[in-house]
Amino acid sequence: MAQTIAFRQADQLKQKPDPGQLGFGRYFTDYMFVMDYAPEAGWHDPRIVPYGPIALEPSAIIFHYGQEVFEGLKAYRTEDGRILLFRPEKNMKRMNQSCKRMNIPEIGESFVLEAIKKLVDREKDWIPALPGQSLYIRPFVIGTDPLLGVHPSGNYKLFVILSPVGSYFGDSIKPVKIYVEDDYVRAVRGGIGFAKTAGNYAASLRAQSRAEELGFDQVLWLDGVDRKYVEEVGSMNIFFKVHGEVWTPALNGSILPGVTRDSAIRLLKHWGVIIKERKISVKKLFKKAEKGELEEVFGTGTAAVISPVGFLKWEDRVIKVGNGKIGPLAQKLYDTLTGIQTGRLKDEFGWTQEVEQEKEPVTE
Ligand code: COI
Repeated sequence: MAQTIAFRQADQLKQKPDPGQLGFGRYFTDYMFVMDYAPEAGWHDPRIVPYGPIALEPSAIIFHYGQEVFEGLKAYRTEDGRILLFRPEKNMKRMNQSCKRMNIPEIGESFVLEAIKKLVDREKDWIPALPGQSLYIRPFVIGTDPLLGVHPSGNYKLFVILSPVGSYFGDSIKPVKIYVEDDYVRAVRGGIGFAKTAGNYAASLRAQSRAEELGFDQVLWLDGVDRKYVEEVGSMNIFFKVHGEVWTPALNGSILPGVTRDSAIRLLKHWGVIIKERKISVKKLFKKAEKGELEEVFGTGTAAVISPVGFLKWEDRVIKVGNGKIGPLAQKLYDTLTGIQTGRLKDEFGWTQEVEQEKEPVTE
């Protein structure tokens, strides 16, 4: 798919936001990448165009049946001026796994990755440089056919939009409060839980707002069948350090296979930490906590990086983990991952890819 990426210049560039007030996903850069899919033409017409509203028919399938997939990755600015992406090939691969599940035509992984690099290069002045900041990259595909029958779309659009971000939870190192949801469920095996698709997040919103009403930051989901086993948190995978070992729920078809999850497991193994991917019953976890054996809890995710959990609420019980402070292992993972991502630490695993920077971006 050796296609040329067209470019349309914006009439006016935006004013950049105050770097100290970025939050997460509130500002968008000047340009986005777009590409179309039609049954007869395949993926075609790749272009970088000004970021802005798009026109779709109100009957488009995305609005009614949610045929969609998305990804999340980040570009980091190093102290010596390079731009790094972290394991972006894994996001491209997962995007295609999500596409398969959602009956969306697969994308050309290396072509879309090249397009992302070109877009990031063009928007490099938007990469924020304060600690914990990055340029969040959100690729997504939507079904666009105007049709109310429940059928897969024939036509699709792929977009990549960029957002300069700070940490997902405001202060990345402040432990978050998690509410174990035992009424609603997020996903079941055979469903779409492992895919990165809007429906999983739509299913989470009611419980998320209930958690917030109760003073918690996010929901910890239990499995959809027995409602006993821990699965994942709203925007992260979850890890528990129990009596010297680290446990994380095994990927079972209803859990998102996180890139940061995989990276944390690889680092822990490399450090000789016992890490077990297993079924974890919430009852057992609370028992361990009562015996003082639950040493650390933390979430992993592209947006969240490593996010310590300070409180867990399940039914009428609340446990405070590690005095409500970040634990040493979560801190080591955070420092190592962000060190590799921002080029401060040696990338022993070959996880980063550098974005080639053009002196003058090509204009057509
Ligand atoms: C990410 O970590 O990139 C995610 O996609 C989580 C998110 C839904 C904010």
